[in-house]
Amino acid sequence: MKVLIATDKPFAKIAVNGIRQEVEAAGFELALLEKYTEKQQLLDSVVDADAIIIRSDIIDAEVIAAAKQLKIVVRAGAGYDNVDLNAATAAGVCVMNTPGQNANAVAELVFGLLVFAVRNFYNGTSGTELMGKKLGIHAYGNVGRNVARIAKGFGMELYAYDAYCPESAMKNDGVNPLKSVEELYSTCDIVSVHIPATAETKKSINAALLGLMPKGAVLVNTARKEVIHEDEMVEFMTSRPDFKYVTDIVPGNDEEMKQKFANNYFTTPKKMGAQTSEANINAGIAAAKQIADFLNNGIDTFRVNK
Ligand code: 3PG
Repeated sequence: MKVLIATDKPFAKIAVNGIRQEVEAAGFELALLEKYTEKQQLLDSVVDADAIIIRSDIIDAEVIAAAKQLKIVVRAGAGYDNVDLNAATAAGVCVMNTPGQNANAVAELVFGLLVFAVRNFYNGTSGTELMGKKLGIHAYGNVGRNVARIAKGFGMELYAYDAYCPESAMKNDGVNPLKSVEELYSTCDIVSVHIPATAETKKSINAALLGLMPKGAVLVNTARKEVIHEDEMVEFMTSRPDFKYVTDIVPGNDEEMKQKFANNYFTTPKKMGAQTSEANINAGIAAAKQIADFLNNGIDTFRVNK
């Protein structure tokens, strides 16, 4: 059986070697498609794949239709909004993610972005510190928990809102649970976004919500660009020159943002929260193991299209 790694943004070499070892030990063959520039290359590569390991690569109905032997797709990472789950389910293809495996890497980048933001993008002027500031964690999943752990080292006051996470889990970590997203944004000096992109969350971070944030607030987004209402972000930032937006996902309106908000907006050029060799090894090897368990033993613990 053939396992294909299809990654537009490649894993570190050491992670690919680890995946190869796992795949070959399970009795399968590994194929590699990295840095592809055309969708056709992906369509050609999936033709004889039994399993595919991806990152943010788009697996839509066309890709699934082209992959006639496909049994499983594992998104080596957390968010699986890049996979057409309905098309996969209809074709009898199992879809999994590898929850938690890259969470620390993303959480560390939150603080890389935050220090950069509150020190005025290292422009030499006097900035502020993170210590004593109120940090709002918007969704308390694997990344949110790691953000809380690191924030304690900075001496921040911690708050979180998550409709799906029990308050006790937050309290056990020394995080104050809040009752609504509005309460989170109105309470906190800094909000770190960790919600997935779903029909419910898309464009949900809008001008009304951002308008609740106090003077000098910072929003840091290492989740998805789709959760931001980009037009309203422009409107809001025009009226609030005290506010800063730092993100690890290039917005659809990056050029406009750069032009209008040169002093309070920053995006990484390519999403790199999970781009560490540790995260690549953790997520990549977990993906390979999950594929071996599924193909050899029918184990589908991390299935997301049940
Ligand atoms: C995830 O959902 O796991 C992160 O957004 C990382 O995505 P990436 O693998 O494309 O870097």
